[in-house]
Amino acid sequence: MKKYTNIDDIESFPEIIQEAIQLKENPFAYEHLGTHKTLIMLFFNASLRTRLSTEKAAKNLGMQVMILNVNDAWNLEFEDGSIMNFNTTEHIKEAAQVISQYADIIAVRAFPSLVDKEKDASEWILNSFVKHATVPIINMESATMHPLQALADAITIEELKKTKKPKVVLSWAPHPKALPQAVANSFVKMMQHIDVDFYITHPKGYELNPAITLDTPILYDQNEALEGADFVYAKNWSSYSEYGKILNQDSNWMMTQEKLKTAKFMHCLPVRRNVVVTDAVLDSSNSVVIQQANNRTFAAQIVLKKILENLY
Ligand code: CP
Repeated sequence: MKKYTNIDDIESFPEIIQEAIQLKENPFAYEHLGTHKTLIMLFFNASLRTRLSTEKAAKNLGMQVMILNVNDAWNLEFEDGSIMNFNTTEHIKEAAQVISQYADIIAVRAFPSLVDKEKDASEWILNSFVKHATVPIINMESATMHPLQALADAITIEELKKTKKPKVVLSWAPHPKALPQAVANSFVKMMQHIDVDFYITHPKGYELNPAITLDTPILYDQNEALEGADFVYAKNWSSYSEYGKILNQDSNWMMTQEKLKTAKFMHCLPVRRNVVVTDAVLDSSNSVVIQQANNRTFAAQIVLKKILENLY
């Protein structure tokens, strides 16, 4: 693997999921791979799971880890040819090359503006690192994608499924803030690549990018979509068509035990209790959110392992 900016960088989905599950059984088996190798993680936005699980994954592989909260560094300029006489101090061209001298792999978290649809779609921050860095780049959640989360989600489904082809439903949930579409986008793409019966349900106006949903069935009736589900993934996202807007806060879309029935409940976390999902669901044995978060380590570790192997 040369980089992991999108789940399209995965060559074989069944293979990478099985390899991640094997790593979980023996996390220190490849400690030698990362000796004298450094991962630098750059955070333009907050994180709990991504930050800690990726650091743990790198350390399981024997790597050294450095973390920079980018807002603590010089203000970066991303525009080519700009006259930098305002509030940016350092151009991404220098910054990415300099960081590449200190790192063998760079991981980047940079959320969307949710204001400029075209600019967010261009993945200008992530792709600036891909363009100007001289080492492999890992996406720790970008404007439109969260591929490490999607890989952890696929590992979790594979571990917990009771039937060969489980029914999986991605259900929009209400939220007081406008959130990115990245987690939903990557989850949709991942489900399209693994052997599941997959549906999306959301209120009208919350259609994701059709270039991502493709022919995945979309139901506007949540109860109909949830019928017979084995896994229900609740997630809020803001409108894609009315870009970044909150169109609906109907609490009837909140996930409850009554709707879930026997299905496993999934969420990437952090989650707002009694807004996205009830306490009763999160505190029940049907909730697998803690296992999902644990699998973030092994998703990151299998990606780092494959990139490290490609460095030699
Ligand atoms: N799921 C997830 O990416 O969590 P953090 O935002 O805490 O990293």
